[in-house]
Amino acid sequence: HGTSRINQQGHLEIGGCDAVELTKQYGTPLYVYDEELIRNKCRSYVEAFKETGLQFQVAYASKAFCTMKMSQVIMEEGLSLDVVSGGELYTAIQAGFPPERIHFHGNNKSIEEIQMALDVNIGCFVVDNFYELELLNELAGDKGVIANILLRVTPGVEAHTHDYISTGQQDTKFGFDMGSGMAFEAVNHSLLLNHINLLGLHSHIGSQIFDTTGFKAAAERLSHFLIEIRDRLQYTASVLNLGGGFGIRYEEEDQPLPVKAYIHAIASAVKQLLGERSYPLPEVWIEPGRSIAGEAGTTLYTVGSVKDLPTIRKYVSVDGGMTDNLRPALYQAKYEALLANRADEPAAEVVTIAGKCCESGDLLIKDYTLPAVQPGDILAVSCTGAYGFAMANNYNRIPRPAVVFVRNGQSDIAVERETYEDIIQRDRLPSHCTTI
Ligand code: LLP
Repeated sequence: HGTSRINQQGHLEIGGCDAVELTKQYGTPLYVYDEELIRNKCRSYVEAFKETGLQFQVAYASKAFCTMKMSQVIMEEGLSLDVVSGGELYTAIQAGFPPERIHFHGNNKSIEEIQMALDVNIGCFVVDNFYELELLNELAGDKGVIANILLRVTPGVEAHTHDYISTGQQDTKFGFDMGSGMAFEAVNHSLLLNHINLLGLHSHIGSQIFDTTGFKAAAERLSHFLIEIRDRLQYTASVLNLGGGFGIRYEEEDQPLPVKAYIHAIASAVKQLLGERSYPLPEVWIEPGRSIAGEAGTTLYTVGSVKDLPTIRKYVSVDGGMTDNLRPALYQAKYEALLANRADEPAAEVVTIAGKCCESGDLLIKDYTLPAVQPGDILAVSCTGAYGFAMANNYNRIPRPAVVFVRNGQSDIAVERETYEDIIQRDRLPSHCTTI
């Protein structure tokens, strides 16, 4: 992926940096991000939209990977930012991200989070339910401001990796249901509230999607709904947000489409349906997370113990695991890997890569072919850039790894490795519990 290659020493190189050297400098486990690849992904979305002639915003879904450095890269690329919590919002603001390009998601935003977002004057709230609608109107009223919103609706389209199911999405905690009239009522109600300015609608149909069918179906259903709203309420939306979910290639059998294919499919569905009914074309917004951060991230581990059960399985343990990448344990997610210090050697054996957590299910990759693995080897697991660091945890009180950005042969720390001091930093030994 991206700028990765094998150098003359037979080492994996990312962004012009030798992966083995990176591990010497920063230790392992280590998240390495190929900054050029992140930037190229951002640009591919912008370029694809430019070809459609539509007005647009590409909002990076920061839940996939959110740090100050990442916010800065996204800002420099001119994208917008989707945040889902006060913590992500705070990170973006501290990194200097322009608040007017921030969109705030979530099905249970707290009063404090809403107030914080109003105080910095974010671009828009993606309102998820009636409770939030009332609360936001009230809190905006208290501050004497008007909040821009999108209403998140569920169009009855649920995309799975290879296909999509119609009407499957009614039973979800997110958004206003379109089928039952709930979404219509939300629009109607929003238009009556004094401190709410309804920009348009939002839908998100799923994640790691490989075809355009679900996106097209969602775009069509939302377009029909917009026409219905115009006919019944004389309201014309200026924004249509179709969410994220564009797939990436974790392993060979994953076959995502080029970014252009998704964007063009969405654009043509919107243009055709709304164009036919002379509906002024809204801005189209999207929210890719995984497809911007995922392939740009590689996790480097040091191999430790090896346990061989002849004719059964060989376990190769690394110095990280479900603490830095929860996805295999949580979703049976698949990854590919290579030996970064012997990347040019031919495959020799089938091994199972285990993490170091005290849990049998802490396996990163099952039955995977590698050169003969030895303690001290550097294992590089690719495509870990999305929902890896983001879902990292301190299970077994294991400190979180460092995050390094590489580009043009330069490496820079984006997040320092956690220390044992960090681990106990918030622990207290309350005196009233002390027994003598
Ligand atoms: N917009 C909304 C409203 C979302 O809920 C999500 C993801 C995105 C955008 C970005 O989707 P993406 O482009 O990254 O697929 N932890 C899971 C993924 C959860 C996705 C949740 N929502 C994983 O590791 O696969």
